[in-house]
Amino acid sequence: AVLTGHLAPQLSGLERAGALAGSAILARRSTVATSQEGGAVVPDTVQVEYRARTGIHSRADYERMYRHSVDDPAGFWGDIAAGFVWERRWAPDHFSYNLDLQSGRVSTRIFAGGRTNIAFNCLDRHVEAGRGSQPCFLWEGNDVGQERKMTYGEVLQEVCRVANWLKSVGVRKGDAVAIYLPLICELPIAMLACTRLGAVHSVVFAGFSADSLAQRCIDCRSRVIITASGGMRGSKRVELKQIVDAAAKVAAEKGHKIHKALVVEHPAAPRGKCPWARGRDVWYGDAVPAQQATCQVEWVDAEDPLFLLYTSGSTGNPKGVVHSTGGYMVGAATTAKYCFDLQPGDVYWCTADCGWITGHTYLAYGPLLNAATNVIYEGVPLHPQPDRMWQIVEKCKVRTLYTAPTLIRALEAQGDTWVKKHDRSSLRVLGSVGEPINPRAWRWLFEVVGERRCPVIDTWWQTETGTVMISPLPGAWPESPGSATLPFFGVVPVLVNDKGKELHGATEGILCIKQTWPAAIRTIKGDHKRFEQTYFSTFKGLYFTGDGCRRDDRGYYTITGRVDDVINVSGHRVGTAEVEAALAAHGACVEAAVVGVEHKIKGQGIYAYVALAQDEEPSEATRKSLIAAVRQHIGAFAAPDVIHWAPGLPKTRSGKIMRRILRKIAVNADSELGDVSTLADPSVVQAIISMRVTQL
Ligand code: WT7
Repeated sequence: AVLTGHLAPQLSGLERAGALAGSAILARRSTVATSQEGGAVVPDTVQVEYRARTGIHSRADYERMYRHSVDDPAGFWGDIAAGFVWERRWAPDHFSYNLDLQSGRVSTRIFAGGRTNIAFNCLDRHVEAGRGSQPCFLWEGNDVGQERKMTYGEVLQEVCRVANWLKSVGVRKGDAVAIYLPLICELPIAMLACTRLGAVHSVVFAGFSADSLAQRCIDCRSRVIITASGGMRGSKRVELKQIVDAAAKVAAEKGHKIHKALVVEHPAAPRGKCPWARGRDVWYGDAVPAQQATCQVEWVDAEDPLFLLYTSGSTGNPKGVVHSTGGYMVGAATTAKYCFDLQPGDVYWCTADCGWITGHTYLAYGPLLNAATNVIYEGVPLHPQPDRMWQIVEKCKVRTLYTAPTLIRALEAQGDTWVKKHDRSSLRVLGSVGEPINPRAWRWLFEVVGERRCPVIDTWWQTETGTVMISPLPGAWPESPGSATLPFFGVVPVLVNDKGKELHGATEGILCIKQTWPAAIRTIKGDHKRFEQTYFSTFKGLYFTGDGCRRDDRGYYTITGRVDDVINVSGHRVGTAEVEAALAAHGACVEAAVVGVEHKIKGQGIYAYVALAQDEEPSEATRKSLIAAVRQHIGAFAAPDVIHWAPGLPKTRSGKIMRRILRKIAVNADSELGDVSTLADPSVVQAIISMRVTQL
């Protein structure tokens, strides 16, 4: 029972396939919404409001703009970019790219020749336009009652102070700065302070372990880190500073010294209770308020790097995804505006942490570029009670709520009463991201949370794409539960078969992207070859996404999940190879193989097969210590849900692990194992199956 107790029962094929089945049910049950082409639509009165705001009145309007964006990307994006502040305008032939390895180096250059600064466009531009006293951040602490309001003017001053401190410790344009903070206002402020100087931030999610943090600091050679004395997640303390100290030690052992750590005082660990390295550590409260509240921006080239964000793939160490300035700025602002119908002053809440790409693009940059009022919540959704999120929606009068399927499922499981206790009449747009949203969660969001009044914007994109790629636009066309529907402006999705042949019409295949787009990944830090290999060597001339996808006869795209060995746990990408390496580094383990399995709340859970060394016991203590090893190497969110003792792993004669078989065994689908005769040792399959119940 312990083995599979918290794993989800398999969803039916229909439920999983989703879109059409879901929308039909919705249309039948709905009395308010009208149904069109089997899709779900919000009432006409609501649509009128969106259309007046976005100027997109129909799918035909969209098609026209979309055509323009892909036929003349230089003109389309140039017109939009003209609404931002540039120190120098881009060259007329600014939009160029090569995605074909055989035609030389893979590259994307947009707004080439132009010079700008994204922090200036997020803050100074709005303050100069008279928005200085508009709230920029509405922060809610982990505990009820902890709150902080910062206006655009105040954020600008604080960003300048932090930037001046960074300068005072020698940070210059192009330097990498690590940020390891809980979700407090200082997190986006630190990002913007780096940006103001043209320094490249590398935010590391505060759930990553010391080893992971060290590895990331070494990889991009960041010598300065901005952190906090501690943090709170629900009722759990997070010992942030201790983790930073441990990371600095690991880095030092590998020859990389962290020179300065700026430490924000967090109530979870007051001064005196926080470990301290004299000479290296500096209290934020001592250093930052003493700085000047103005700081000249550093104008940078459009193609200068803006930030680095590490993400996992199916093989090797995490990759430092590099995004550049101009294209990312224009892409982030434009997607945020159209997908979330965002206008200056709108109250907007993205529940993601800045440690992930969603927090970069749709908590920090996108909303600020649109002069929105941003809700930031430090804590966890069910703390102290399951209505915390709805209480924040009511209190802050949130208009757009952008969240993740895993969270929606967790909240749905608490029952509707928690939601209905709070006034949600301010809500207009509901967004989802991170993993395929199952139609059941979609319907709950649409019907219960949004009272059938708010479009559900299911946005598909990736760390590498920088911005939303496939997504509905509110009110513009009928949504379909589980479907991301149509490509955003400038995005050309194609479906190919496993030979790379492009498929047309209603079909299913591997999702690739044909042209480049403004916020496209520019390279992998320090390894352009790996960048080319990972994304452009699978199919000639195409960006390979790693996702499977279906296109229906409406042209709607429905993502079916990863086709590679990447696991999506609660919307967080976990590389199988990394988890396997962490397990294999444990003395008790000879070999490990990891697969993803469906999980009721997390979307996917981590299922690990472990072959033990001869003298090791398959005991509860060994199991715990293996899981602890993964926590230590990667972080708690990557901890395996199940350890399945295996006498050996199913391998081909050339030594390749056959995960297909392991995926089936993990879900008890023993009858669907298929042909195992090509295995080097077919008997291993039965041996693994026989260990299933006796493992603990
Ligand atoms: C992978 C990217 C983009 C921000 C969060 C995750 C999956 C993302 C959706 C969606 C189905 C989705 C894909 C993708 N994914 N959004 N709306 N529907 N799947 O960023 O860590 O870079 O992961 O998340 O598999 O490839 P990430």
